Amino acid sequence: MEKLVIGNLKMNLLSAIERERYLKAFKNELKGKKLSRINLVLCPPFVHLEAFKKAHLGKKVSIGAQDMFWERSGSFTGEISPAMLKDAGCEYVILGHSERRRYFSENDEEVKMKVSSALKNGLKPVICVGESKVERSGGQAARVVGRQVRNAISGLNRTQAENIIIAYEPVWAVGSDILPTSNEIMEAKVLIRKILVELFDKKYAGLVKIIYGGSVNSHTAREACVDPAMDGALIGRESLTPFEFLKIAEIINT
Ligand code: PGA
Repeated sequence: MEKLVIGNLKMNLLSAIERERYLKAFKNELKGKKLSRINLVLCPPFVHLEAFKKAHLGKKVSIGAQDMFWERSGSFTGEISPAMLKDAGCEYVILGHSERRRYFSENDEEVKMKVSSALKNGLKPVICVGESKVERSGGQAARVVGRQVRNAISGLNRTQAENIIIAYEPVWAVGSDILPTSNEIMEAKVLIRKILVELFDKKYAGLVKIIYGGSVNSHTAREACVDPAMDGALIGRESLTPFEFLKIAEIINT
C-alpha cells in the first residue's frame, strides 16, 4: 500500500504571487526526488484549488480541500459543495480538523454528515481525530478518539473503506512542537484499527489508511510516522516549505 503524505496549507498563500512562488518552488524541489512508495496531496485554501490543479504537479501529486459542506447545492451562503471540489480537481478533503472543531464548533454529527457526503460525491475524506491535553491527562484519550472515529464512520458501507483516511492528530501536538512518543502513536493506531475491524471486519478494515499529524518535521518524521508504521502523515507548517515537506516525504518513503 502506498503511503500518503498530505500538506495542509491552512489559511496561507495570501496572494496569487505567493501561490505562484510556492508552486514554482514545489516543482523544482520535486524534480529527482525518490518517492516511489508515496502519494503526495496538497490542500491549499479553496481559492487556490484550480490553480494548483492546473499547475500540473505530476502523477505523484493529488489535490485536496481543507473542508466542505455536506449539501451538494442550494442556499447555504458561504459554503463550498463537494461537487464544486470534485469539479475543481480535488480527490481528497480534510474533515473534522481540530481547528475546525475548536474555532468553528464543529461536532461529531457534522463531521459524520460531511464524511458521508464526501464519499457519496467521490471524494476521499481525511478524517481528523485526537484528544486534547486535558483529555489525555485525565486518562480519556482512548475514549475520545474512539468516540470520534465511531461517530465519523459508523453506518458506512465497508466497500467504502479503501477511500477513507483517518488522521490521528492529538490536539496538543498540532502547531505546538510537542510530540507523542512512537508508542503513544502506535497505541492510537491499534485502537483505531480495532474499531475499524469491529465496524468493517478485518479484510476491509485493513484498507483504511491511518496516518499521523501534529508537529511533524524532518527531525520528527521517523519517530512519529516510520517507527509506529503509520500509513503516512498530515503536515501543517512544514508543508509551507516545499523543501522541508518533500524531505519528510523522502523519510517516510524509506
Ligand atoms: P502542524 O499541523 O504540522 O503545523 O502541527 C498539523 C495539522 O494541523 O494537520
